[in-house]
Amino acid sequence: MDMIPDNITSSPEWNLIMPEQPILFAQHHHADYLDELIEFLRIPSVSTQPDHGGDVAAAAAWLARAMSAAGLENVRLIETAGHPILYGDWLHAGAGRPTVLVYGHYDVQPPEPLELWESPPFTPVVRDDFLYARGASDDKGQVYVHVKAVEAYLRTLGRLPVNVKFLVEGEEEIGSRHLHSFITANRDLLAADSALVSDSSILAPDRPALIYGLRGICQAQVDLTGPSRDLHSGSYGGGIDNPINVLGHLIARLKDERGHVLIPGFYDRVRPLTADERETLAQFPLDEAEWLAEAGAPVAWGEPEYTLVERLGARPTLDVTGLIGGYTGVGVKTVLPAQAQAKISMRLVPDQDPAEIIALFERHVRAVLPPSVTATISFGGGSPAALLETNTPTMRAAAQAYEATFGRPPVFMREGGSIPVVNQFAGDLGLPTVLMGFGLPDDRIHSPNERFYLPNYYRGIETVIRYFDLLGSAAD
Ligand code: BES
Ligand code: ZN
Repeated sequence: MDMIPDNITSSPEWNLIMPEQPILFAQHHHADYLDELIEFLRIPSVSTQPDHGGDVAAAAAWLARAMSAAGLENVRLIETAGHPILYGDWLHAGAGRPTVLVYGHYDVQPPEPLELWESPPFTPVVRDDFLYARGASDDKGQVYVHVKAVEAYLRTLGRLPVNVKFLVEGEEEIGSRHLHSFITANRDLLAADSALVSDSSILAPDRPALIYGLRGICQAQVDLTGPSRDLHSGSYGGGIDNPINVLGHLIARLKDERGHVLIPGFYDRVRPLTADERETLAQFPLDEAEWLAEAGAPVAWGEPEYTLVERLGARPTLDVTGLIGGYTGVGVKTVLPAQAQAKISMRLVPDQDPAEIIALFERHVRAVLPPSVTATISFGGGSPAALLETNTPTMRAAAQAYEATFGRPPVFMREGGSIPVVNQFAGDLGLPTVLMGFGLPDDRIHSPNERFYLPNYYRGIETVIRYFDLLGSAAD
């Protein structure tokens, strides 16, 4: 199966202004778009921190108002056992016009460590064409691109060329916990012809990218308890095991020094890369030195049998994402701690099954732990990888819209990050899905000083305006 389409060719006859009125409208409203996004970004909608529950709800309410103000109809907040899901639609495009399910998320990652931010994470600031704030790129800025594209149509032409249904959730950054069941239970409400997701990045300001692969994910937490209280490390050390030391040994048995995951069975279902795909990935224009400089790391690392590009998008992996234990305050304390905790995430590729990986993980951890500790193993849900077909009318329209706006056709690429719902859109719902991002690789998403390149924000709005136009006119 050849996933990669023939080179998308330039189409010089393409009218760069079409559709004129919405695009001119959008070009005249950059200042408003910036002010509004800043307001949205001020709300610290950190979904994983219970203290921010009220803020997450406030962000949902703010966005609901903005969606209604843009002209979307039937806007409503749907309560879940977690954070609310937002729905809104505009369904008057007329007979034969397609319906686009537009997805994004209004929740953000925790901003910590706070001391590394040059300006506070929820006090958005513009410096040199970049808007700095947690969520600026991932994903509030990109969600707002969709809202403003709709508004530009409704304010100028009074109509859209396609029907749209917006589905915006507040739990993407914690694994879309309640979205899957909501979608399954509301298939009619969400019925559409294709899905549009803007929650990713392009390669460079003038180099758009369409993503056709995302990794899946499983997140686990291991809590180890040794003695019932912290002990004097002199009186007890050498006679009582230390859960932090045990955790160190455990971590060493999860992954070797060369990047191979050591959980038995972990690779059993991994779909091998075909020669064709390796060849395509080899052509991907990744400048390793530049990429390393942006990451601030001294060397690249990982499975030596695979290239860097393969390791980043097409190979599964495992990482410890957080460690807690012992005395971490200033100075010294001679303590043999009672507890240790590790947070672990595994990135999955086709055809790994998250439920099976969770079971393999738990079995392995239980098998290697000594009797000196008791373990609680918990999981934060999981989602499978997604691989999208590229040779579809929606992908071609997306490529054309990108090219008309950015002046260059997009690169097709696989992405190592995860967007849990995409597998459900493309798989269960059978929707042709387009991952049309407007971030940049150095937006520092999930890191301190996250930012969004403002020219891309505005170009994003124009690209989506053109994309809707192309989808609509293809139906005539
Ligand atoms: N926007 C990202 C996904 C992404 C990352 C796309 C990098 C393109 C480039 C998304 O918000 C995200 O971070 N997803 C989480 C999902 C997880 C918490 C279940 C991720 O990948 O860590
Ligand atoms: Zn994210």
